[in-house]
Amino acid sequence: MQAYFASWGQEGIVDLKHELEQVLMFISSRCLLGYEVREMMLEEVSSLFHELENGLNFFSFLFPYIPTSTNRRRDKAHIRLKEIFTTTIRSRRSSGRVQEDALQRLMNSKYKDGRSASEAEICGMIIALIFAGKHPSSSTSIWTGAFMLSNTKFLIAAVEEQKHIISKYKNQIGYDAFLEMDTLHRCIKEALRMHTPVQMLARKAHKKFKVQTKEGKEYDIPEGHNIVIPTTLNNKLSHVYNDPHAYDPDRFGPGREEDRVGGKYSFTTFGGGRHVCSGMALAYLQIKVIWSHLLRNFEFKLISPFPKVDVSKDLFMCK
Ligand code: HEM
Repeated sequence: MQAYFASWGQEGIVDLKHELEQVLMFISSRCLLGYEVREMMLEEVSSLFHELENGLNFFSFLFPYIPTSTNRRRDKAHIRLKEIFTTTIRSRRSSGRVQEDALQRLMNSKYKDGRSASEAEICGMIIALIFAGKHPSSSTSIWTGAFMLSNTKFLIAAVEEQKHIISKYKNQIGYDAFLEMDTLHRCIKEALRMHTPVQMLARKAHKKFKVQTKEGKEYDIPEGHNIVIPTTLNNKLSHVYNDPHAYDPDRFGPGREEDRVGGKYSFTTFGGGRHVCSGMALAYLQIKVIWSHLLRNFEFKLISPFPKVDVSKDLFMCK
């Protein structure tokens, strides 16, 4: 996704997709994996995560252990990542050094019976967190950019909002300022509706139950059956969303609020119920931090065609 940019007398062409993926890796490595990875081994860890990501596709979902070269590289990368995180955990524990990041939180966490999480459990959870957090946020920041740069009306509204926030906070943009960026928030939320990074939620029925369609038709779901909730389709239902295939962040604005009017589970991009995404606030915040900075400091123009969905990727990233 190529964009022309101009800022303070400088101008050029930038591959926004590549740059946004990099920025998200910087944020995730610092906030989740910690100082050691961010400062000393980012390149190696990024390429190992890339190998894991390549090994996560529809084919490997159906046949996770088939001995293809992609799966072999994925498993090798997984072993190396576990080695790196185990070394970091041991070095922090032996030096008594304490950091402010998710890795430290997991190291300090205890089960209800007082037992600490094992090194293997911490490594597993931190790898899962990167997958849960970095990839969907990266895909969403790219789609948000693509939509804003292709819809002048919403781009202008988002830039105007930034000007207003700067004048209010006198360039001291902190947490409270980000919470006030409603226009940018809606631009991100609409990108999430249009291109939901997690296309479906899967559950196993622990007991039988009935579901009723809006027309009143009932279906029995037997115990033990697997159920799939297609978030992608949910977010495009025409009885919930007006003109569902159009990018229209205002649909979430005051007076419309189509996701609320449409019922509790109309917007399922972050799941729902007991297992709703626990990183939702972080996801919005990091994407706002990135786009707020870009909108305040650069002028952009999309010079490549609007990106297409790459269905070969697990998160339907843009090509
Ligand atoms: C745009 C970004 C994101 C999207 C679209 C997203 C989406 C989702 C969805 C749909 C679920 C529910 C899965 C299910 O019910 O089967 C989920 C769960 C989860 N997400 Fe996110 N997520 C995002 C960002 C993040 C971030 C930044 C983090 C943390 C670093 C995170 C951590 C989690 C965790 C820990 C769960 C499991 C919650 C549980 O099972 O109780 N996510 N996410």
